[in-house]
Amino acid sequence: MLALIPLTVAGLVTAQTLSPLVQHSKRHQHPGGWSRMRRHAPDAVLPLRFGLSQPNVDMNTLEELLNDVSHPESPNYGMHWSPARVAEHFAPSDEAVHAVTSWIRENGFAAERVHVSRTKGWVKLNASVAETEALLRTEYHVYMHESSGQEHVACEAYNLPAHIVPHVELIQPTIDFDSILPKRSASTSTKIALGQPGAGTVSPKMTTTMPAIFSDSVANCDNEITPACLRALYGLYYLPVATADNSYGIVEYTPQAYVPADLDMFAKAFGPSLVHARPTLVSIDGGVVQQTMKSFDYDGESSLDLEYAMNLVTASQNITLYQVGDLQIGASFNNFLDALDGAFCSFEGGDDPDNDSIYPDTAPGGYQGWDCGTTKPANVISTSYGYNEADLSPAYAARQCAEYAKLGLMGVTFLFSSGDNGVAGNSGQCLYADGSPYTYGTIFNPSFPSTCPFVTAVGATQVNYGAKVTDPESACQQVIYSGGGFSNYFAIPDYQKGAVGNYLAATPPPYDGEVYNKTGMSRAYPDISANGANYVVAIDDQFALVFGTSASTPVVGAILTMINDARLAKGKSTIGFINPAIYAPGFRGAFNDIVSGTNPGCGTSGFTAVKGFDPVTGLGTPSFPKLLEAWLKLE
Ligand SMILES: *[C@@H]1O[C@H](CO)[C@@H](O)[C@H](O)[C@H]1NC(C)=O
Ligand SMILES: *[C@@H]1O[C@H](CO)[C@@H](O)[C@H](O)[C@H]1NC(C)=O
Ligand SMILES: *[C@@H]1O[C@H](CO)[C@@H](O)[C@H](O)[C@H]1NC(C)=O
Ligand SMILES: *[C@@H]1O[C@H](CO)[C@@H](O)[C@H](O)[C@H]1NC(C)=O
Repeated sequence: MLALIPLTVAGLVTAQTLSPLVQHSKRHQHPGGWSRMRRHAPDAVLPLRFGLSQPNVDMNTLEELLNDVSHPESPNYGMHWSPARVAEHFAPSDEAVHAVTSWIRENGFAAERVHVSRTKGWVKLNASVAETEALLRTEYHVYMHESSGQEHVACEAYNLPAHIVPHVELIQPTIDFDSILPKRSASTSTKIALGQPGAGTVSPKMTTTMPAIFSDSVANCDNEITPACLRALYGLYYLPVATADNSYGIVEYTPQAYVPADLDMFAKAFGPSLVHARPTLVSIDGGVVQQTMKSFDYDGESSLDLEYAMNLVTASQNITLYQVGDLQIGASFNNFLDALDGAFCSFEGGDDPDNDSIYPDTAPGGYQGWDCGTTKPANVISTSYGYNEADLSPAYAARQCAEYAKLGLMGVTFLFSSGDNGVAGNSGQCLYADGSPYTYGTIFNPSFPSTCPFVTAVGATQVNYGAKVTDPESACQQVIYSGGGFSNYFAIPDYQKGAVGNYLAATPPPYDGEVYNKTGMSRAYPDISANGANYVVAIDDQFALVFGTSASTPVVGAILTMINDARLAKGKSTIGFINPAIYAPGFRGAFNDIVSGTNPGCGTSGFTAVKGFDPVTGLGTPSFPKLLEAWLKLE
């Protein structure tokens, strides 16, 4: 038997006194090129900033909030939040502010020295090195950059009382070297390539270049996809009317660029009213449409995305080109999100120096600013770039995924291409059991942000050889395979449970080993698909045939933009985060179900497209007239 001990005894002692010290953060090594020189002077002053933790960002809470404005059966469907409401809702609690400021005061700092930022995101305090070392139980050193002689102050680890830990996300300056890392130091250049085309991203593939003779006929869509083929395939015959209220954004990461003459070459062949039309450039973190480096690798992605997006939404609808990152260090998805949401970047105090570019870029010719909350997001944003989920830490992926949920709350539709390597990752790599990617791995390698449950992932289909545009398409099996599978990080969202459950029960994939998360409890992707084979694209003065989920994604974006147009014209909201709607019964039949083809990879034939949802083509390809009807029925 246990003796009953009166619990009130502990209550007599203050929580603070009992709270043990916990190591909050530790750096394992300092970045290459830096040496530790000396202890920092005890009377030097540090501008301490405590970044407080955000409430309400766990996945279940985010899903509930999003369902409230995005589920077709919700009475609040379409009642999107203002950016101010989003900022307020995810601002740190008064309890967090109180806990942190009281703890600082208990450690001997006068109340008037402690300041709380307007957004409640930060507690600020000027403290001497000696005071800070006592507060955080640490030691500060001065480091020197060997080649530039630049100095930096940092500690290697620091501690907080246990009751403060849940309220603090980060403290600066402590362990980070982010703010003054020189560009292109050996340790950053390869990592920053992650957010960019080239190593490890989705990028379109090209087969042949071809002469510039095309007809408007749709007789040849099994060999060449043109805008006329896409209109015929998906019933996209629509002239927009609410164009001043509407917006469609295409994101490109420098040095990817379009060549103006190529847009005109495409327009002459397929849409004469677009000759001389250009996207509206929104430059983020020094983004430039560079014209010095020219090749398919530099110009293929932007040309494909812009030529098709502009044509399909017609000359009446402006397209916004978000050109992200300067020519020196480029940019990642988080840099773009910083520009869209000031609360994201100012709250978190910047990005992860391992995987995001850090602005201002202090290098010669680098972008000297930092775009934080400077850009209003377009209603639909199409991105044809992606990581392997396994290349990011779960915490990093979750933080970025939460941000897509916040933008969904504001009514923004985020589309990501699902990848071009079937169940394998970028460059065809698969995973080992420990989660690391290798050419000879055997475990499926899912794509992020597609696996984030708060974005819409777009796969690829093809018109089969010899088939007409009126015949059913198959999963794309020419040059590329539609990316698809199951997340290793994110749990299955509610909107998908029925569809994925049916798929696994009716047509269980034939894999014995643990090559993917087969519990039915993880997020499956893609959500939808569209043609991704044989696109005729003008690139560097030539027409070429291009393949990829890079092609299907801006096409789906154009279709959704036209649906927004019809809703805006009737005084309705934008469609925002579409997944809870498209999986709902009211949208049954609004997609052309794809029932043939596979997405091979990792030495397997991958998954198979079957009746209903499958992790190859999702729910199928859009039928514009049926989607329009379903969305116009909603408030
Ligand atoms: C810290 O000191 C700087 C320089 O004197 C001043 O600009 C800043 O407002 C101070 N911050 C706080 C939180 O007192
Ligand atoms: C499209 O962009 C051009 C140039 O920025 C502008 O003059 C025009 O008003 C825009 N059209 C609409 C419908 O917003
Ligand atoms: C940054 O990327 C590397 C792979 O290049 C990965 O190992 C690491 O976990 C990532 N860091 C974060 C914080 O996600
Ligand atoms: C599968 O995913 C679910 C949901 O994320 C998770 O709880 C479970 O542990 C995963 N199973 C395996 C074997 O990874």
